[in-house]
Amino acid sequence: MRDVTLIDIFHHHIAQKFLNRSGLAHAIAVSYHAFQLAKEHNVDVDIAAKAGLLHDMGHYTWYRNGKWDYDLYKQNDIHPIKGAERAHKLLIRLGENPVKAKTIALAILFHTDSFLPTNDIVRTPLQQIVKWADEKDEEEGGMHHYRTIDFDRAKESLSRLDGWIDLEHKKLG
Ligand SMILES: [Fe+2]
Repeated sequence: MRDVTLIDIFHHHIAQKFLNRSGLAHAIAVSYHAFQLAKEHNVDVDIAAKAGLLHDMGHYTWYRNGKWDYDLYKQNDIHPIKGAERAHKLLIRLGENPVKAKTIALAILFHTDSFLPTNDIVRTPLQQIVKWADEKDEEEGGMHHYRTIDFDRAKESLSRLDGWIDLEHKKLG
């Protein structure tokens, strides 16, 4: 039995606020990709799916005169740091196992090199999976952050994925 499901996360108001800001459709797509990749690489599917869902929740809105300013973003962005912290706080509040919460937070912290001075970090398999999952869903010019999905469809998708995660855990006994 898992302490926290994707649907538990989805229904929390903090998740609603930040998942909608950076694109709920993207978050769900990355969660699905992370699940699939975790299955292929024998990594815990629950941890991977949660990290995928929450990986971009640290985004700030970099607007100047009503338009997204990519230069401003490139210079000042720390969304993996903020995301790791926000996700950790949210998961602990929801009653997540602290070891899992930390593992998920670290996978979010290292899901991209964009904010780091160098790109020479060595990732764990889980951290690598979340990075790949994100890259699979990326679109030119950050358009993946603007794709939309309605509330009921989002809920359905995450319930389905919760079911698949339970099934994988059952297989492992
Ligand atoms: Fe992303």
